[in-house]
Amino acid sequence: MKQDMIVILDLGSTENTVLAREIRDMGVYSEIHPHDITVKELQELNNVKGIILNGGENRIVDGQAVDVNPDIYDCGYPVMSVDHPTATCSQQLKALPEQDVLKEFIFDQCKAEPNWNMKNFVADQVELLRSQVGDRKVLLALSGGVDSSVVAALLLKAIGQQLVCVHVNHGLMRKNESESVVEIFGEQLHANLIYVNATERFLGKLEGVSEPEEKRKIIGGEFIRVFEEEARKLDGIDFLGQGTIYPDIIESGTKTAKMVKSHHNVGGLPEDLQFELVEPLKQLFKDEVRACGVELGLPAHMVYRQPFPGPGLGVRCLGAITRDRLEAVRESDAILQEEFKKAGLDQRVWQYFTVVPDFKSVGMRNHARSFEYMVIIRAINTVDAMTATIERVDWDVLEIITNRILNEVDNVNRVCYDMSPKPPATIEFE
Ligand code: XMP
Repeated sequence: MKQDMIVILDLGSTENTVLAREIRDMGVYSEIHPHDITVKELQELNNVKGIILNGGENRIVDGQAVDVNPDIYDCGYPVMSVDHPTATCSQQLKALPEQDVLKEFIFDQCKAEPNWNMKNFVADQVELLRSQVGDRKVLLALSGGVDSSVVAALLLKAIGQQLVCVHVNHGLMRKNESESVVEIFGEQLHANLIYVNATERFLGKLEGVSEPEEKRKIIGGEFIRVFEEEARKLDGIDFLGQGTIYPDIIESGTKTAKMVKSHHNVGGLPEDLQFELVEPLKQLFKDEVRACGVELGLPAHMVYRQPFPGPGLGVRCLGAITRDRLEAVRESDAILQEEFKKAGLDQRVWQYFTVVPDFKSVGMRNHARSFEYMVIIRAINTVDAMTATIERVDWDVLEIITNRILNEVDNVNRVCYDMSPKPPATIEFE
C-alpha cells in the first residue's frame, strides 16, 4: 500500500468530515471510523500512522458519554484527543485543532508522509480489487453518471474483462447520453458492455401516469427488473459493483451522528440475487471521485457532469409522459447545454435544465394560430442542493437560447425562465 493513514474515531463530533478533508488537503489520507472500533479492526487497516479522537456535541448517547475501547491506547499509535480530554492521550485539545497543531501531530508525532494523491489511490485500489475479486466476475449498472463511470473505469483497469457492465437506456436519457456511454466504454475502453434499450418498455409502463411519485416508482422499479433480468442471463457473477461514495455512507448515519437520509444505491434487488459488494469509491468525496476519473483518463464531459436525477427526463416531462413532449425536453435541454457552454456558464452554474409542462398555449406560426407546448428554463446555484438560488442569466444569452428553441424544437411556441428559489420550490419540478 502506498498511502499513510490518520484514523479519526467518531466520538460524536459533527465536524468529522471537515477534519478528514483538512487532513487529506494536507496530503495525508484519513478515514472516519466508529468510536468502538476494536484493536483488531484497527490493526487490519492499512498503514495507520496515528489516531484522532474527535469528540463533540453528539457524544452523549442515551444519557451516557460514548468512549473508545481503552486498549487502543496500547497499540503503539500516537493518539490526539479533540474536545472530552483523556489523560492517556498524547495531546489534548478543546475544539477542532488549529492547522499548525494538526500538522505537528500528523507529520512530527505520527511521522506520516504526505503521499495521498489520486495516482497512489488508483494504484492501491487496483491492487485491492485484484485481491478481492481474484478470477471472479463483477457486475455493474453503468448509468453514465459520474460515480458509476468512475467505478467502471477503475474496475476495468483492475480486472479488465472480468467486469460486466450493463447500461439500461430507459428512454429518458439526455441527448446522446447512452451513445456516449457505448462509445467511451464499449468502443474506446473495450469494456464488456451489455447495452439494453428498454425505451419502449419504460414508456409503455409510464403511459398515462401523471402523478410524480408514481412515475418515479415505476421508473425505479422497472430499472431494477431490467437489471435483474440481465443479471440472471449471466453465469458466474459473484460481485456487484456500486458507485457508493463517502457522503452516502456519512449521510446514512454513524453510531453517534444523526441519520440524514438512508442510502440505497441499487436498492431493492431481489434477495435470491446474492452478490458481494464492491465499492471502491466509498472513501472518496465527490471532488475526489472526479479527480479519480481524470486520473483514469475519462473525458471531462463525463467527469464534470452536473447532477442528473435517476428518473432522468421523466421528471422533466411533466405529468403523463408523451413522446412529443419528451423529445421537446431532450432537444431543448441539448440547446441549453450548448449555449451555456458557449457563454462559459457551464463552468459557473451548478445545475441547468429545461422542463416541458403538460399543457399548451396559444401562439402564432406562419401567420396562423398555433396551439403548442412551452419550455421552461431552470438554472440554479447551490452548495448542497438543500437550498438553491437562481442564476441571473444574461438576457442576451437567454434570447439566443429562446430563439434557438423556438426555431429548432418541434411543437413549442413559448419559452419561460423559472425565477423560483428553493425553498419554496424544489430544484426539479417533480
Ligand atoms: P430537488 O428537486 O429535491 O433536487 O430540489 C435536489 C437535487 O437532487 C437531484 N435529484 C435526484 N438525484 N436521483 C438522483 O440521483 C433522483 O431521483 C433525484 N431527484 C432529484 C436534483 O437534480 C437536484 O440536483
